[in-house]
Amino acid sequence: MNIITNTTELRRILAPVRQRERIAFVPTMGCLHEGHLSLIRKAKRLADIVVVSIYVNPMQFGPNEDFDAYPRTFDQDRELCEKEAVDIIFHPQNLYPADGMKISLKVNELDNCLCGAARPGHFDGVVTIVNMLFNIVQPDIAIFGEKDYQQLAIINRMVNDLQMNIEIVAGETVRETDGLAMSSRNRYLSQQDRKNAVFLQESLKKVTEKIKHGGDDKTSLKNMLNDEKAWLESKNIKVEYLEMRDAASLTLIDELNHTPARLFIAAKIGKTRLIDNIALEHATIDMSDSVTETRV
Ligand code: PAJ
Repeated sequence: MNIITNTTELRRILAPVRQRERIAFVPTMGCLHEGHLSLIRKAKRLADIVVVSIYVNPMQFGPNEDFDAYPRTFDQDRELCEKEAVDIIFHPQNLYPADGMKISLKVNELDNCLCGAARPGHFDGVVTIVNMLFNIVQPDIAIFGEKDYQQLAIINRMVNDLQMNIEIVAGETVRETDGLAMSSRNRYLSQQDRKNAVFLQESLKKVTEKIKHGGDDKTSLKNMLNDEKAWLESKNIKVEYLEMRDAASLTLIDELNHTPARLFIAAKIGKTRLIDNIALEHATIDMSDSVTETRV
């Protein structure tokens, strides 16, 4: 396994490889867990060479967010990548010009809702760094987790709208045994908060079940979501949103039988903000030509 910190060096190594082999790219911010590893395993299945980037991107953190506190565990990450037979780790120190970015990407509309609404500029930071990383690695395919579904939808649109010749593949959310979606931020949870965190996924499952049996009455969806929010609040969980949206456009939906649809939740448990989402039973993800593995 090669560990590369320098952009020119990475380009030099990958140039001849690209001629004869298929390159898969898994961008991460490190602190790797089974969720990341599942994406790496998928990448291994779909390509000859797997490049994993580990870079905590300052541009996607708001001024009061956890950029400084974000866990950096490179030695452990390196060992995990070694075990998964990753070919190259790209671990740059800094990818931004010393005098700041004079040119960057901007997300339109898709970031007005969900996490984008609570984190202004976050997705501009994500698309800018992902675009930069795509330009450096120039992969054939790139794998992103459904755990960060809005990110996946936005990257998918970026590739589409900017005519990038990269196939985006989605990886399913990997969960702890009790159902909590794995996240680098779960380590911030106290013991009690960790116990409560499982309610997010439970609520998503409960609402999905109710929707499945609930016909297509508009008010009942609103009531279902409100009841569930109230239940979570009673457990001391501050719900930021609990919504059903179209799986591709992310527009809000009020019909129970809309397809493809997903349920999204964000909530604060203690000081930690967690997110999760789930596909509605009748929904199939069909965001574009490139999101599902079967198309690869
Ligand atoms: P990070 O949070 O490290 O996540 C890297 C990738 O792992 C993302 O595609 C994310 O959706 C996926 N992932 C995280 N938890 C997962 C889980 N439980 N199951 C499956 N996949 C999971 O997302 C980022 O980094 C950054 O925004 C990045 C794209 C690297 C740009 O800086």
